[in-house]
Amino acid sequence: MAEAVIPSQSRPPYRTVADLEPVAGKRVLVRVDFNVPIDRARGRIEDDSRIVETLPTIEYLIQRGAAVILISHWGRPKGWDPEASLGPVAARLAQLLACPVHFVPDVVGEKAQAAARALKPGEVLLLENVRFEPGETKNSPELAQALARLADCYVDDAFGAAHRAHASIEGVTHYLPSAAGFLMERELKALDEILGQPDRPYWAVIGGSKVSDKALLLEELLQKVDGLVIGGAMANTFLAAEGLDMGASKVEKDAFGAARHLLQTARERAIPVILPQDLVVSDEFRADASWRVAEPGRLRAQEMALDIGPKTVAAVEEALCHARTVFWNGPMGVFEWDAFAHGTLAVARCLARVSAKVVVGGGDSLAAVTKAGVRERLTHVSTGGGASLEYLEGKPLPGVEALRQTSSGGALS
Ligand code: 3PG
Repeated sequence: MAEAVIPSQSRPPYRTVADLEPVAGKRVLVRVDFNVPIDRARGRIEDDSRIVETLPTIEYLIQRGAAVILISHWGRPKGWDPEASLGPVAARLAQLLACPVHFVPDVVGEKAQAAARALKPGEVLLLENVRFEPGETKNSPELAQALARLADCYVDDAFGAAHRAHASIEGVTHYLPSAAGFLMERELKALDEILGQPDRPYWAVIGGSKVSDKALLLEELLQKVDGLVIGGAMANTFLAAEGLDMGASKVEKDAFGAARHLLQTARERAIPVILPQDLVVSDEFRADASWRVAEPGRLRAQEMALDIGPKTVAAVEEALCHARTVFWNGPMGVFEWDAFAHGTLAVARCLARVSAKVVVGGGDSLAAVTKAGVRERLTHVSTGGGASLEYLEGKPLPGVEALRQTSSGGALS
């Protein structure tokens, strides 16, 4: 009979790796998110953060005598494609773990089954990109069962992919005793804290390109925050919706209504919103383009906003120095180009200085805090871009829901 998982203040409402003990001699299937940037020409991993963050779970299992079978997706391949292989990741993981990592170019076929059977306690096997199997994204029960047959229990440490109802994330939990890995647990704790009772004042800093992508998140945040900073290209839409001429800046006319509604909600709730007071603008969308600082409404017809200006940076710094909790998602400008990275890097450095708890959503914001060299000084930097946004929008994540609902797992015939 299914063993109940009782939520309490000290225990999360799902099983964790420790609840699977004893794991000695067991084969544990661990879903990780190794969807990391790879320089395919050199076979080099460009940012191994997502791999590094899963080491505590993998090492815990190895040290306790489990045979660890890792499964991940990479990219969005259409069928088998050597350009989407996880081979380079196996090499990097072996370096990080300082032990051999077996790799088979197979997901659930004979080679994968033989490799899983041959795996000894304390050894690690990485299977090929699970999205090479068409059943993965369809959450096919056949694939979920085939994955389950490789192991005795399942650990989900792929927070970055928890918003996907896929076979290796959701489906497999129906067939194996399942638990959350340490990274999954850390991610959920950090996000639950800002969703629940954040220390106040609580500020959110939201940037990035599109209002339409983040309107839901902004609606949710306006129910919780004490102040909001809006930057990046999406700020252009807010400023243009307020009637300011934004020259040739990227503006989403379709989102004017949503932008006005959000600003109105903020006014009704007396929540201060900091929009750019000045901008770094240029005639060209180029890394080495010349630029000047201009106020919103004062851009020339051919000029576009590519970063927030110094007055805005100062206003953001002034607001954030009083905050006790800050959530940041999305860059303030085209931070990949040094000339237009000042606003984003200034926000990152400011967040490293303040005494607030700082939670950073993944994706571009992760790259920005890495570029600013402040990653280690922030409370939590999520490995999940889409997943952290959906979680904060209040949407149930299929991967997390599956862990909450799963009990001891069904038996496989
Ligand atoms: C991500 O990089 O956000 C995750 O790995 C999910 O990837 P996906 O958007 O291709 O599902």
